[in-house]
Amino acid sequence: MGGQGITRRDLLRQGALGTLALSAAGGELAACAAGRSAAPRFPAEATTAPPDDARTRWWLEGNFAPVHREVTATNLEVIGSLPPELEGLYARNGSNPLSGLSPHWFLGDGMVHGVELAGGAATWYRNRYVETALWKSGGGLGSSGQPGGASGLSNVSVGRHAGRFLSLGEVGFPFELEPSDLSTLGVVDFDGRLTGNFTAHPKVDPTTGLMHAFGYNFEAPFLEYYVIDPSGTLVSSEPVDVPHSTMMHDFAITESDVIFMDFPVAFDMAGAIKMVKDPSSTAVPFEWRPELGARLGVMPLGGPTSAIRWVSIDPCYVYHGVNAWRDGSVIKMEVCHLDSTFTSSNEPSAATRRVWSIETATPQLRFSEVVLDVPAADLPTIDQRHRGRPSRHSWLGEVISSPGELAFWGCQHLDTVTGKLDRWLPDGGRRSGEWCFVPAKGGHEGEGWVMAFVFDPLVDRSALVVLEAQDVAKGPIAQVPLPVRVPYGFHGTFMEA
Ligand SMILES: [Fe+2]
Repeated sequence: MGGQGITRRDLLRQGALGTLALSAAGGELAACAAGRSAAPRFPAEATTAPPDDARTRWWLEGNFAPVHREVTATNLEVIGSLPPELEGLYARNGSNPLSGLSPHWFLGDGMVHGVELAGGAATWYRNRYVETALWKSGGGLGSSGQPGGASGLSNVSVGRHAGRFLSLGEVGFPFELEPSDLSTLGVVDFDGRLTGNFTAHPKVDPTTGLMHAFGYNFEAPFLEYYVIDPSGTLVSSEPVDVPHSTMMHDFAITESDVIFMDFPVAFDMAGAIKMVKDPSSTAVPFEWRPELGARLGVMPLGGPTSAIRWVSIDPCYVYHGVNAWRDGSVIKMEVCHLDSTFTSSNEPSAATRRVWSIETATPQLRFSEVVLDVPAADLPTIDQRHRGRPSRHSWLGEVISSPGELAFWGCQHLDTVTGKLDRWLPDGGRRSGEWCFVPAKGGHEGEGWVMAFVFDPLVDRSALVVLEAQDVAKGPIAQVPLPVRVPYGFHGTFMEA
């Protein structure tokens, strides 16, 4: 696209989107030869070989396979230059089945990997299981009945709110971790006020500091909406009237709205029973049921949930929204859209980026969408100071998807004001995951860095890779080679010291 800038308005118009060409700014396929760890200083942990009966389970193979050791490594090598301003802990959660087996990528025990950065140095790396009740009883979903409460896998994300470092799954309660060593401090039920499940994707309003969250349950109430105040008190818990138990992974907020995504991935009791009876099976407790329909629910931020209004859309699934914001009477919401998920093939597919518009001024909500002409990507991150507000910058993991393979290949940064797509796609088979944006102190939106664990199959290890957020195509400004590999996982955060 070069110098052909487009405006946000252009971007959101259907006609303009077709002109949004890929711009790698000369950095596409940028290798970072200088940053490669040619002579690893630590013995590699062999990639786990899956059991013979699990050869088709891609989530147990290669760098999806779990690691079996909890490692502490200190005074890590830094290749390049870590900005001294990066002071704190980068941590990322993921699914790491204690038994070595899981029926699905999403259903292993939570393991958090963290690197502490201080004064331009990388002081330590640790990986620790989240010590849930399920982990203590041997891992996995077990045979003790319906998971929930302290019996969740807690494997999806980590975050910080009200001074607490939280590990989150979407089935069960949050767990509090100790940021200095990633140990598990205990389950968080908000003084007994939380009774249902708690999402791994709560949203913190950058103006009020309120954390908005939800939980879907397998029994009524199937959906609940929560508000946690900046002191960490759960101040509101309301059921949302939905007819089925559906897997609701994410939601969105604006300055004045909450948007729920009720999509047809339904709880499947038969699958759940089969999975519990036969832990080596690939049965899962969800199934794709497009006949149930798909709809978006819009309600006032903070509730009441009785004020929710719904609009039907074509069946689809969205694991992750990028952001949502108000444009007058229209809610704009950018998402990573899948045609389906949890189908019988259980194969991964690639998400397209779409911007949805929901007109709220009409008696019935009106829905429309545009598809962004950018390569498939998911695991989005933004400058969290713009959560629920118009945001110019986003960073996503670019998706490589083919039958039997799902991978995130580097970083995709889109500037919606210039229209420039800036990508870092590492060579040598290296693969990343979600990128975490860390703002520069006092900087404008998007000024700062993004970081992620990147796996290198040539050395069977991972490194923490840091990119300049406004120029990811330049490649890493710093890499921290780790003594082990970090299995592909889900969501991370950076917590300032
Ligand atoms: Fe997620």
